[in-house]
Amino acid sequence: MKDVYILGIESSCDETSASIIKNGIEEISTVVATQMDIHKVYGGVVPEIASRNHVENITLVIEEALSKANLKIDDIDAIGVTYGPGLIGSLLIGLQAAKTISFLYDKPLIPVHHIAGHIYANRLVSEFEFPLIALVVSGGHTDLIYMDRDYSFKKIGGTLDDAVGEAYDKVAKIMGLDYPGGPIIDDLSLKGEDTYDLPIPLDDDSNNFSFSGLKSAVVNLVHNEKQRGNIINEANLSKSFQERVIHILTKKTMRVLKKYNVSTLLLAGGVSANSGLRDKFIKLCSDNNINLVIPPLKYCTDNAAMIGAAAYYAYQSGLQSDLLLNASATSSLEKEGA
Ligand code: KG4
Ligand code: ZN
Repeated sequence: MKDVYILGIESSCDETSASIIKNGIEEISTVVATQMDIHKVYGGVVPEIASRNHVENITLVIEEALSKANLKIDDIDAIGVTYGPGLIGSLLIGLQAAKTISFLYDKPLIPVHHIAGHIYANRLVSEFEFPLIALVVSGGHTDLIYMDRDYSFKKIGGTLDDAVGEAYDKVAKIMGLDYPGGPIIDDLSLKGEDTYDLPIPLDDDSNNFSFSGLKSAVVNLVHNEKQRGNIINEANLSKSFQERVIHILTKKTMRVLKKYNVSTLLLAGGVSANSGLRDKFIKLCSDNNINLVIPPLKYCTDNAAMIGAAAYYAYQSGLQSDLLLNASATSSLEKEGA
C-alpha cells in the first residue's frame, strides 16, 4: 500500500506548529514555535498578540517541517488543520495557510478538532484497543470521551465550569507564579506536603468535574493569609491543590472505566504532563488491569504531530472539507467523524 504523508498544521492558541506524519503513526518531522515567553509578561495568552505572531511564524514553520522531512509539498498527500476550538484569530491563521496550500497544490483539506488531535497524539506511540476511554485534560477541556472505533467520539463527562489546566493557571497567577502555571505548580508540589485544607471538587456520583470552587478556595485562602500578614508556603499549597485535582480526576475516571466495562485508558492534553497525575494513574491502572496509554511529554502540550495523526484517521473515515471550511472557537468533538 502506498504511504500517506500528511502535513499537520496547528495554531489554536499560542503555539504555531507544523508536522509531517506518515500513515497516521510515524512522526517524520515537527516544528513548534512557542510564544510562551511573549505572553508570560501578561500572565496569560493575549489573543491579538498570539494571532500576529502566528502570521509571522506560520510559513517559516511549515517550510522548516518540510525541509526537515526532506519532502516537498508535492510529496504530501493531504493537509490536516485544526479548525477549532481555540482562539478564533489564532485558528484563522493556520486555517488560511492550510487552505492556500490545498488550493494551490490541489491537495485534500482535512478539518481536525483540536481535542481529536490531543487524543490521537497517543496513536504516535501506541495502537488503540477499542473500546477505550480518553481523559482529556488541557487548558480548555476536561472531558471523558468514549470511543468504540476510530474517529468516533462520545462525551460521557466533562467539566461544568473551569477546565483543569485553566484552574492550574489561575491558581498559579494568584500565587504570583509565572504563566503557564501547571508545570510550575507540579514542580513545587514535589517539594511540598499536603497541609492546606482545600475542598474536593464535585465529589459525587456523576461523571462530571468542577474546578471553580477549588480555585476560589485557593484564591480566598491566599487573600486571607495575606491580610493576616502570614506567608504562604507555596510548595505545600501547590501540593494540596494538586492532590485534590488528582484525587477527583483519578477517582471519576477509574469509576467510569468500570461502569462502561472498558479496559483501555488514554490520557491526553497539556495536564497529562503532570507528574503526580501520571504516577497515580500508572499505579491505579496497574492495580486494576487497565491498559494505560500516556503520551510522551512532547505530545502532551499543543503540537502539529497530533493534528497530522488525527487527520489520517479523519481522512480514512471520510472527513474532508472544501475551501469554505471556517474556524470555530467552540466546536463540539461529538459532531466529528464516524
Ligand atoms: O493542551 P494544552 O497545551 O493547550 C490546550 O489545548 O489548552 O494545555 C495547556 C495547559 C495549561 O493550562 C498548562 O498549565 C497545563 O496544560 N500544563 C500542566 C502541566 N504542563 C502543562 N498542568 C499541570 N501539570 C503540568 N505538568
Ligand atoms: Zn491543546
